[in-house]
Amino acid sequence: MSTDHLNVEFKLHPVPECLLSRNPPPHVNSFEQYKKIHEESVKNPTEFWGKLANELLTWHTPFKTVLSGGFEHGDVTWFREGELNASYNCVDRHAIKNPDKVAIIYEADEPGQDRKITYGELLRDVCRFANVLKAHGVKKGDTVAIYMPMVPEAVVAFLACARLGAIHSVVFAGFSSESLRNRILDASSRFIITADEGRRGGKTIHTKKIVDEALLGCPDVERVFVFRRTGSSVPFCSPRDVWWHEELDKQRPHCPPEICNAEDPLFILYTSGSTGKPKGLLHTTAGYLLGAATTVKYVFDYQDGDIYGCMADIGWITGHTYIIYGPLALGGTSVLFESTPVYPSPSRYWEVVAKHKITQFYTAPTAIRLLRKFGREPVDCHDLSSLRVIGSVGEPINPEAWEWYNEVVGRNVCSVVDTYWQTETGSIIVTPLPGATATKPGSATFPFFGIDLVVLNPETGEEIKTTEAEGVLAIRKPWPSMTRSVYNDHNRYLDTYLRPFKGYYFSGDGVGRDCNGYYWIRGRVDDVINVAGHRLSTAEIESALIMHNATAEAAAIGVASELKGQCVHAFVTLKPNCENTDVKDLILQVRKSIGPFAAPEKVYIVNDLPKTRSGKIMRRVLRKIVDGQTDSLGDLSTLADPKMVDTLIETIKKS
Ligand code: PRX
Repeated sequence: MSTDHLNVEFKLHPVPECLLSRNPPPHVNSFEQYKKIHEESVKNPTEFWGKLANELLTWHTPFKTVLSGGFEHGDVTWFREGELNASYNCVDRHAIKNPDKVAIIYEADEPGQDRKITYGELLRDVCRFANVLKAHGVKKGDTVAIYMPMVPEAVVAFLACARLGAIHSVVFAGFSSESLRNRILDASSRFIITADEGRRGGKTIHTKKIVDEALLGCPDVERVFVFRRTGSSVPFCSPRDVWWHEELDKQRPHCPPEICNAEDPLFILYTSGSTGKPKGLLHTTAGYLLGAATTVKYVFDYQDGDIYGCMADIGWITGHTYIIYGPLALGGTSVLFESTPVYPSPSRYWEVVAKHKITQFYTAPTAIRLLRKFGREPVDCHDLSSLRVIGSVGEPINPEAWEWYNEVVGRNVCSVVDTYWQTETGSIIVTPLPGATATKPGSATFPFFGIDLVVLNPETGEEIKTTEAEGVLAIRKPWPSMTRSVYNDHNRYLDTYLRPFKGYYFSGDGVGRDCNGYYWIRGRVDDVINVAGHRLSTAEIESALIMHNATAEAAAIGVASELKGQCVHAFVTLKPNCENTDVKDLILQVRKSIGPFAAPEKVYIVNDLPKTRSGKIMRRVLRKIVDGQTDSLGDLSTLADPKMVDTLIETIKKS
């Protein structure tokens, strides 16, 4: 593989001087210190993580074995004899010490409607709601679906499940009823926690209505707990549905935490892979919590008194780890932002930063690119001097957006952390550290502590040992917050992550390593499309399109998009007598089947799809045609009908 492009000189941004001279200084304050700790952490993970697990977590029963099992059999366990409770670690221990400290700052959709929830209040609410769940039969090991807007009660719902040892399965509230139904069925959830409606960007989301539609196909659901967010009248189906506030009023604010084993499941979170059916990734209690807490501490250089603002949605892994579990495990103050970056104006983020004096701000490249279009004025009119670390996650950040973020938002005095990780990794695995790493825009820089990163040759599966390398990203040793299984399908877990390259965890991402050892994430090497940081598989979109009764066959590809990173283009062949089908209906079908965020930007009606003789769709050909690279379509000899390509090019050009 050519590595020529790695020799391009990228501007190196040193660690801002003002961060180093702060008191207290950053937890890690030189690159040498980072190197030393990283080296020790991969050489002796047991010592490294064992020490941190005692430092950052409170145990009911101490662990004896730090790590056992491995990638070969997919039987990794961390801290196996240890017992603890995640909600105790995120709430009680801080509430006991510091009940008036603010745990959550809720910034509601409408500006001015913010609310602060202290650790004392959070503990009482979590206990009361855990008692509600218990009263309705929820017990340890049950799976509870959460389909909630970005309200503090969602945080309470997560932690109440954790308190009982119940496994939460959060479904992003932008998913359609069909996607929600599939996830409820796959996880066998008999309990749903939801709200009457949601509010986002001034718009209403009919949350309960979507739940009701989903439940038409879920006969085993016993109870739906409905939080009143807007107060609008919504369909209510007693005795299945109960009101959150009415149930809460019945319960006392004390509920002893269930003692959980370190390896007891904490949650399931569905994510898209290369096949149509999303996988319910399973995360366990101690390892996940430790990864979350450790990365908030070191990647964001979290210090006592900081106000930590992650703008993600709790429905995705970033919200799980960096709004809820990470900051709360450290006893921090975490911002829960219900709105969008542009509501009611493109100043919203910066108003929120200034109002709450946010110290760490974490968002996605797609939001940065969007805000950059509005220029610097909406940023400049706010006092952002509280910020120290500004982060990016979810997709590659292009150097232009990085520079803008650094200069305009960070005013060249903040550390920019481009953090690479996945739902599977549980917490950040490649990242700069604020006091230690000189950054290159577009590079996620170096592996986090305990991450033994390698670049593999995808053909041979061999490690590429030269400094400059180009291949696929893999990890050689287990780390605590890695996913342990796919819910009810361990074999699929092994097939996807541990079997492709024996002895390694395979990320599914391409990666480059430059002459200075910096890592550059290239994006997925499988059929996963990343639309504005939302992960979708081509197969998932194709299955949605096939559901339309006019569709004969469908293919979906990811196409570069200036704003969203990637967007979806779809190709559909129609059944006989369906020639008059409106592409809008096909787009609607995807919105209905998956959710609005998955809607293809473009649908091409074509006569035929490029397929191999064995019937496999050659998406590469479609991608090249859309990109306008028709003179470099590559080897077409494996196509069943190479002549179809010319017609296809004509059709696509005309659309
Ligand atoms: O392709 C990588 C991309 O997002 C994928 C993981 O998506 P998900 O599980 O939804 O988690 C997103 C939030 C952690 C990865 O396989 N990705 C994530 N962060 C970055 C990234 N690509 C480049 N740079 C990043 N910083």
